[in-house]
Amino acid sequence: MTTLESAKLSLNKKGYLDTETPNIDYIKEIKQLKKEKNAILLAHYYQRDDIQAIADFVGDSLALAQQAAKTDADMIIFAGVHFMAETAKILNPTKKVLLPNLLAGCSLADSCPPDKFSEFKKQYPNHVVVTYINCSAEIKALSDYVCTSSNAKKIVDSIPKEQPIIFAPDRNLGAYLNKETGRNMVLWEGSCLVHEAFSMEKLIKLYKSHPDAEIIAHPESEAHLLQVASYIGSTAGLLNYVKNSNKTKFIVATEAGILFQMLQENPDKEIIPAPAKEDNTCACSECAYMKMNTLKKLYLCIKHELPSIEVDTELAKKAIIPIERMLALSK
Ligand code: 13P
Ligand code: SF4
Repeated sequence: MTTLESAKLSLNKKGYLDTETPNIDYIKEIKQLKKEKNAILLAHYYQRDDIQAIADFVGDSLALAQQAAKTDADMIIFAGVHFMAETAKILNPTKKVLLPNLLAGCSLADSCPPDKFSEFKKQYPNHVVVTYINCSAEIKALSDYVCTSSNAKKIVDSIPKEQPIIFAPDRNLGAYLNKETGRNMVLWEGSCLVHEAFSMEKLIKLYKSHPDAEIIAHPESEAHLLQVASYIGSTAGLLNYVKNSNKTKFIVATEAGILFQMLQENPDKEIIPAPAKEDNTCACSECAYMKMNTLKKLYLCIKHELPSIEVDTELAKKAIIPIERMLALSK
């Protein structure tokens, strides 16, 4: 059996290639392979620091989708989670789109199974469906508009006031949008495990010992947490806020990977991750799915061009409609 054949076997079981790579300088090799294959490495702010450091572009979900839509690279390597790479593939059906670990999913996307959502949708026949990009291609195909946390309000506001809306899958973002837009959207009861893991009790305690800090939060967080936040925004929004604020201390309620860029951009500011309920070791929240990608998996993935993302052609034709609507409204 060749090395690649045995690697493919491990891919079936684990979702990633796993062959021996003795004495390899992953960073050097990844850079070289990217050049040889005219590949672009896109990374989300929640990726491990070493991956963010070598990416061609690091961004939030919207910026990553926009980059995927306009790239002229022959190959896209997505250092993120499955729904992000799948969106890139839908936008680039003829290009190879790679995800270093196929099992890098998303608890929020998993909280909205297509069969159940389809039944739910039937209960509200005259409603338009707006879905957060953190969902599967099947859910996108059942939607009228896709949005991300940075353009959700804009997308909802673009729909006539009298038009009833279903918002899925994130109940926290949905409730926040209802408050911000004065709508009464029907909400799907989905959520992200990471953003619901923050402890209010620990946060209050932390704030008491840092009363000069500003609490800032991602809108996937629960309502009681958003209530105490001075700023609510997407990962890119949170980064901009910290950069442009004249305050010097922040308690940040989102996945801890954001700290890498925040500290790079603001070496003189103090950034404290909001504490999670169960975590007594590092007092931060990490997305286990985002952290599944490693430099080694990334290297093997570019080298062997596996695992690659495939989306059924008919499904992709339906799913691209709400994505393109979002991109057109986000220029
Ligand atoms: P952003 O839209 O801020 O990138 O959020 C993505 C995400 O998965 C948040 O959990
Ligand atoms: Fe999904 Fe939450 Fe991880 Fe974002 S942080 S990818 S919403 S599980």
